[in-house]
Amino acid sequence: MKVAVLGFGTVGKGVYDMLLASPTLEAGSVLVRTGKCDAPFKTDSIDAICADKSIDAVAEVMGGIEPAFSYCAAALKAGKHVVTSNKALVAAKGIELNTLARENNAGFLFSAACGGAVPFLHNLELARLSDEIISLGGILNGTTNFMLDKMQSEGMDYADVLKEAQALGYAEADPTADVTGLDALRKIMLGCAVAYDMLPNEGLLNEGIDSLSADDVKHFQSKGLTCRLLAKGGKVGDKLYAYVQPVLVKADAPECAVKKNFNMAKYLGKNSGQIVLMGQGAGRYPTASAVVRDLECLSYGQRVMMHTECRQVKADNGGCVCSYYVRMPKMYADSFELECAENEGDNVRAVTKSISVKDMHEKVKAIRASGASVFFAELS
Ligand code: HSE
Repeated sequence: MKVAVLGFGTVGKGVYDMLLASPTLEAGSVLVRTGKCDAPFKTDSIDAICADKSIDAVAEVMGGIEPAFSYCAAALKAGKHVVTSNKALVAAKGIELNTLARENNAGFLFSAACGGAVPFLHNLELARLSDEIISLGGILNGTTNFMLDKMQSEGMDYADVLKEAQALGYAEADPTADVTGLDALRKIMLGCAVAYDMLPNEGLLNEGIDSLSADDVKHFQSKGLTCRLLAKGGKVGDKLYAYVQPVLVKADAPECAVKKNFNMAKYLGKNSGQIVLMGQGAGRYPTASAVVRDLECLSYGQRVMMHTECRQVKADNGGCVCSYYVRMPKMYADSFELECAENEGDNVRAVTKSISVKDMHEKVKAIRASGASVFFAELS
């Protein structure tokens, strides 16, 4: 199978290297931006790739929705298989691309878009055949896990550790999606699509670590707590919930053992019980290995990961309830029903009584609208 690569950034270079080394796959041309064709294997023409009869598949690793969507659609219409590591693309346009793949007898696989090297979506696909998946989620962003780990173990500042995660190729080109939880949210959206044939596209909630300070981390450590960014999804009756938020876990929680750029993806099957998968969730070769794994799956005959029945739905996070740790200016403390509170200068560090995920995210949004700095995390 001859493969053209769309994009030559961190992951694209890794995929190209792996194709050159592969005994079963052949490297085709690499699509780069206009004016960047500085080697014979590079092209700036998607039309040339689509017209090239020797190309069987394209690996889209450019990121972003456009022009990635137009290029993938063009490749599928030309009868070429598409594999992608682009979660923004699949979360926004996955159903359309899946339909185009079916209409053109082509494949559309995207396991590299969730979990880096961790084969989470493949396992969900298998699990749903024989079991009812009650819930899914876990640590699905390598950048923020790397940051949280270093902030805690080395006392590093947020800005410095983010720069290090970028230099190591873990973060997105624009790391906003990583630190706000949007990247992990897109991954849980894909997990729900594979597990439930439901791709939630409204009612979703994401809170990241962009309000976390080094002082917050020190405070958690003094209480024996560790912060991790968790994505959660699941089905209750015919309703789906899907959200991302920081969680404070105790020292014996399995999430504490997830270090550096690692992910820990889990699902709970009605009969299987809990299944946990762990591995590198970000970085050149971990992610490239998942892209190449999908290409090999095409060789084995797999064509799609999403069923034709998959439809867009509104998520409902109103039924998910927990208590939260909150650091906020004192004047906002009466916005919540509190279990306990400690003053610290102009701020208060408090624990709320049980509240729904939806209400909590909405209340904090309202407080932040006045310019206040608030950090909150679920207490597990
Ligand atoms: N920026 C992503 C992460 C890359 O840090 O998890 C892998 O999807």
